[in-house]
Amino acid sequence: MSENKSRFNSRFAAIMAMAGSAVGLGNIWLFPYMVGEHGGAAFIIVYIAFCILVSLPIFIAESTAGRVSRKEGYSIMNKVAPVTILASFIILSFYSVVGGWSFDYLIRSFAGGFSGKDIAEAKEVFAGMNGSVVENVSCMLVFLGMTAMIVVAGVDKGIGRFSKISIPVLFIMVVLIAIESLRLPGSGKGIEYLIRPDWSKLDGPAIAAALGQSFFSLSLGVGSIYTYASYMREEDSVLRAGGWTAFFDTAFALLAGLAIMPAVFAAGIEPGAGPSLVFETLPVIFSRMGVVLPVIFFLAILIAALSSSISLLEVVVSWLVHSRGMRRRYAVLLVFFSAAFLGSACAVAPKVFAACDFLSSNVFMMIGALLFALITGWILPREEVMRHVRYRFAYALIRYAAPVMIVAIAVTNLL
Ligand code: PHE
Repeated sequence: MSENKSRFNSRFAAIMAMAGSAVGLGNIWLFPYMVGEHGGAAFIIVYIAFCILVSLPIFIAESTAGRVSRKEGYSIMNKVAPVTILASFIILSFYSVVGGWSFDYLIRSFAGGFSGKDIAEAKEVFAGMNGSVVENVSCMLVFLGMTAMIVVAGVDKGIGRFSKISIPVLFIMVVLIAIESLRLPGSGKGIEYLIRPDWSKLDGPAIAAALGQSFFSLSLGVGSIYTYASYMREEDSVLRAGGWTAFFDTAFALLAGLAIMPAVFAAGIEPGAGPSLVFETLPVIFSRMGVVLPVIFFLAILIAALSSSISLLEVVVSWLVHSRGMRRRYAVLLVFFSAAFLGSACAVAPKVFAACDFLSSNVFMMIGALLFALITGWILPREEVMRHVRYRFAYALIRYAAPVMIVAIAVTNLL
């Protein structure tokens, strides 16, 4: 294994890159809906508690593994590689399809494509785009191409620079949308939907959903955090990076809720989740609020998706470069073409898309997260781990609580 010398040149770049990986489609199209359906503030409280007590320790375990592995080249890490590489590659493929849709919709909103349309017409637009193999595949390729261009520019010059600029801009854009959305008459119902605590809705599946969502949202178990941590400077702390990433990720998810739900309720529409919310309901609602808002909205989604997809591509590229000795640009090219192949299958066959989504988030991510917790908690030398983890309490969470909780949700989700 050649020594990994790639670095983020500042703490800010490393934290923005990690926050960029975390902030993604999951925050926009899953979180706000989940909150509303699973008991509002009650769900938010449980979600935050899980973030702090389970997901953050796993984040720290995965990043500690990244830091330790770069120094010693521990061979144990090669055991995790097949799982994380497969997981990140599969997620990259279907994520690129949705990234392609955001690109498509950005262009459409530039051209004012949604003004005057109602939801039924927007549904037709979406079905038309989704049904067109050429449009679907070419937009996916454009998105994957943008991802590859950022990654090929290098760790600091590509990923770091992109993240330092785009993540702050992304936050500003979502705050702007939230302000506009909250100013609409009748927006209060959307806030009520997000916040009113309803403890009776907090059943077993809701709790499993909270934990599963915090895993996906913090990009755990697929090697993105491991890889980015391996690029951090010696003096930068993984605890601090983890704390900031969890904070930005949760803040962004809540902001996305405030940007989306007040507008949906002000328009008197039932909220949904996933593609129907983002590509059918919201373009119509935001177009009623002016020509600029839909453009800002789809640009925000595109940036959020890109900052996550670069962290997925980098997992595989980093492995090819540092463990297989391949040149960076050839590694990027190889992964681009392979992901384009699987991505095309996801774009044309909804069943392949669903299978990739299910396998990666319910199986591979869980196995990856479990392996990171076990390796950092039980196999890597304690003194080495404690240099990064620092607190005995955090170490105990990694050793005991994290593995138990991962197995518990994996079983609940698969049953
Ligand atoms: N965290 C991203 C999101 O919320 C998804 C992701 C998962 C990105 C795993 C990288 C690795 O959309």
